Parts: sequence; C-alpha cells; structure tokens
Amino acid sequence: MKMKGCSLGLSMLLLFAGNAFAVVPQPVVAKQGMVVSEQQLATQVGVDILRAGGNAIDAAVAVGYALAVVYPCCGNIGGGGFMTIHFANGNDTFLNFREKAPLAATPAMYLDAKEQVIPGKSTIGYTAVAVPGSVSGLDMVLQKYGTMSRARVMAPAIHLAEQGFILGTADVKSLAHYTDTFRKQANIAAIFLKNNQPYQVGDRLIQTDLANTLKQIAQQGPAVFYKGSIATALVKASQAHNGLLSMEDFARYSSEVLQPIHCTYRGYTIISAPPPSSGGVTLCEMLNILEGYPLSNLGYHSVQSSHYMIEAMRYAFADRNNNLGDPDFVKNPVDHLIAKDYAAKIRQRIQEYKATPSNTLFSKSLPDESTHTTHYSVMDKFGNAVAVTYTLNSYFGAGVIASNTGFFLNNEMDDFTSKPKGVNQFGLVQGAPNIIQAGKRPLSSMTPTIVIKNKQLFLVLGSPGGPRIITATLQTIINVLDFAMNIQQAVDAPRFHQQWLPDSVDVEPFTFSADTTRELTQMGYHFTPHDPWGAVEAIMIDPNSKLLYGANDDRRPGGKALGY
Ligand code: DON
Repeated sequence: MKMKGCSLGLSMLLLFAGNAFAVVPQPVVAKQGMVVSEQQLATQVGVDILRAGGNAIDAAVAVGYALAVVYPCCGNIGGGGFMTIHFANGNDTFLNFREKAPLAATPAMYLDAKEQVIPGKSTIGYTAVAVPGSVSGLDMVLQKYGTMSRARVMAPAIHLAEQGFILGTADVKSLAHYTDTFRKQANIAAIFLKNNQPYQVGDRLIQTDLANTLKQIAQQGPAVFYKGSIATALVKASQAHNGLLSMEDFARYSSEVLQPIHCTYRGYTIISAPPPSSGGVTLCEMLNILEGYPLSNLGYHSVQSSHYMIEAMRYAFADRNNNLGDPDFVKNPVDHLIAKDYAAKIRQRIQEYKATPSNTLFSKSLPDESTHTTHYSVMDKFGNAVAVTYTLNSYFGAGVIASNTGFFLNNEMDDFTSKPKGVNQFGLVQGAPNIIQAGKRPLSSMTPTIVIKNKQLFLVLGSPGGPRIITATLQTIINVLDFAMNIQQAVDAPRFHQQWLPDSVDVEPFTFSADTTRELTQMGYHFTPHDPWGAVEAIMIDPNSKLLYGANDDRRPGGKALGY
C-alpha cells in the first residue's frame, strides 16, 4: 500500500523546503516489519520470514539467497559484500564478507611486459575472480544473530530456483543485455537462454543446477562451499581457464565481524561500512564538511548548496583514493579522515563562489567502477535493522559459471589498483594502499548505512553504483535531514556525483535547472550528463508514529518495498 504523508513535523517542513517534485511520490507504509530490495520476489521472501516470526537477520539471509536466484546479475553466492546491523538493544555491528585475492595473486598480475594493463584480464573470465565471501558471511550472521535454521531461511530460494519464477519486464531486461555473453558458454546458455534466444516476459526461469548447489549448502553448510564439492568444482574450472583459485584459498577464506564507522550529523548518528569499504569513511567525511553549511536554508539543488556538496564530494574522494585499503594489510587513517576538525580545515579551503580544480588536491585518481551490485534493507518488529550491500562487481560478475554449479563468479579483482601509480583500464588511477596482494580484500565503495536519532532507528539504506554508491547514500540522507523530503522523494530525487577525478560532475537528467547549471559553470564546474544510476533501497521509521516507510528506488521498477 502506498500512503500519503509522513509525520506532521516532516510534512510541515515540506511546505518550506525546496521540492524536487510537483506531485510528491509516497513510500510504502507498514507497522511491524519492512523489506526493500531490487527484486519483488526477494522482497516477498523477506516479508514472509518476518511474518513467520523471524528477525531481521533471518530475513536478510533469506533475501540474500533469494536474490541470488531471482536477481542473478547482482544477487549472488559467487561474490561478497557487507552487512551493517543495528540491534534492538542499541548495539551495532558490521559483517565483512568481502572477497579476497587468491593466494597466488601478485601486484602486477594484470600488466603486460610493458607494464600496461591487459584489457579484460581483471574483468572477464577466471583471471578476474576473487575468493567469494557471500556463503560464509550469510551463514556467519545467521549462526550469530539469527533465530531460524539454515534450511528454513534457504528454503524459499531453493524453491524459486527449483520450481522457477515467471520473468517480468525488469527481469528480462536485466538478462537481455548479456545474451552474447551467455551464448559463449554452453552451461550458461543452457540456463539463461531459451533455445539459445533471450527469455521473454512471462517465461519461467528454472535453475536446477543452482537449486542443487543451494540444497547442498542448506544441508552441509559453508563447509561444502569452502572445503567440499563446490570448492572442488570452482577450483577445477578456474585451473582449466588460467585462473588462480586453489583449494587453500577456499579453506582459508573467512568473514569477520568489525566495528562499523560511527559519526554524527546534525544530531543524528550515522553507522556505516568501515574499511575494506571506503563507504563509511567517505560518507562521514562528506557529512562532517557539510555540517558547517546551512544546506536547508541554502535550498535544495540551489547553486550554493550544490557547490558545497560537490566540493565535499571532491575532497572526500581525493582522500578515499589515496589513503584507504584493506586494514589487514595497510593502515587506514580513519580517525583523522572522520574528525570534525579535519572537516573544518577542508571548509577553510573551500571558496564560497569557486570550484576547486581537482588537480590541486592530489595527483592520483579513482577508478570508474561499473554499475551493478545490489542493496537491500530490512527492519523487523523487534527493532532490529539490517542493511546489506553485496555484489558480483560487474553485471553477472566475470561472466563465468563453473561447470554445473549454477551461479556466476565475481570479478572483484578489478576493484584493486591494477597498475600502481599508473592509469588503469578505465583511464584512471587508484592509490597504493589498494595494490593487489595475496589474500587481501579490494577496496570497496559499498555503503550499507543505518541512521539513528536519540537512540531510535531512523533510516536504513544503501545502493549499488560503484563510487556513486557513496554519493547516492549521502544525497538520500541529506534529502531527508536537510531538505525534509519523505523517504520516497529522497530516493527518487535526481543525483549528481563528483569523485575528485575526472574533474567533472556527473548529473542525472533534470538535476539542475539551466540557470543553476550556468551559474555553477561560471564558478568553474564541468558537467557530464549521465543516465540515472544507483538504486537506493531505503526504510525510514517515523520518530513520532513509529510507522515504517519503505522506498524502492524508482530507477528499479522490478524492485519493491513491502511491509506488514
Ligand atoms: O565494491 C565495490 O565498490 C564495487 N565492486 C561495487 C560495484 C558496483 O556497485 C557496481 N554497481 N552497481
């Protein structure tokens, strides 16, 4: 059900705020629990688990496995990710199940004899694959904080794989672009093509191989994936195709519990992803900078508020690219980067009416990451909240499925610095802390985030979109906190993105008026029109009524917010 209005307070504020919409889009409202994901069947799986008495962790694990079936581009068991959790008792935690580089990986593994990056080697096929973490992570969180059995939470995913599901428009669209990739490998074509042709709306997609794999995991747990027959199949296929994966890589893989990043913004507490994600640090640095400007008074997408937001993005991304990497391998200056006085120093450098040329900040740059991952958010009736972002990196990852395992493998190795101090395959450069090392996790931008106010849950959100994840998350938070939008408006509102280098601002259609664009251009900004990006899947709790408001990003018509 979509319902009008949020709290009276927010509605009143809306009267005074700049408004991006003539007609205000409304979130879905529910009383007890809410799930928002990029695929409606996966959302339904999560809500069914909540209704059956499961907590948000049970539902998050069930949705994680379900998305691996119904959203195979992005949902996965062959990739990795992060989970930010806020418990009803007020505690927070963070689960790191990011992939790791194989033990045979080396810093120059993607370079030729002339030290040039070999096109495709870090993105396509087994040479691009890092050791997957999703099965380990989903199981770890279920054992630690869940209340249901593995078999119970995996049952819906197994059912959807075994019995199949009817493909809708969005499902078909997400598969259709990859017809050529699917055709190249018989085992993939047999699953994702129908008589070697793309599936059509209304067709049923059955994934028998994946159902068998999921059944094995449900029965035997992560051991079968990391030490048993699944690891054996993955290693065999990798070895047959110049990949580096070994049985030892799988045996040594582990997920871990970390302390999330905490910072404050105008009285709200932000809980987000720590390294090896850059998400929380970069988000907090931007928010700290922006806290010193009266964004609400300056107005939504006004020249001045946009100037400060773009500058905050530029400074924070320059720091992201040069300073962050896997904390098991490099020291991350997290405390410094998220300190309020560091933000104050940056504000002193930001001029009131002038863009800062990016090349005056540092001399290196950020990778232009591909744009496919998936985020989902869950809240339960007990007061627990879970934000999950996980990924194969590119659409369908490395584009390979090992024999009859039925699932795509990631190409997360491409998130590393392929060429230290050089230009990567996208024409950009990453920092030394993120060079490839055996067993290391590549730096990520995934930003599963929870916001609290006065110890009460307020927002759960995150997005896909590579580096744009962080700015999409930032803008959604600011749209709610500074510009008083309801959560659906905040999610749907047009976005802009600056990532230090290139020294231009990506803009979605209808982001700035012609007048605003002209003034910002006069201040030194360069704009690059861009197709819409990201998919913020968010939940807000109204502080007064305690109602839950769910917002599926309108950029993902196949997704859904559903509660009860
Ligand atoms: O971890 C990262 O930052 C990337 N592998 C995420 C890629 C991504 O978001 C692509 N998405 N839409």
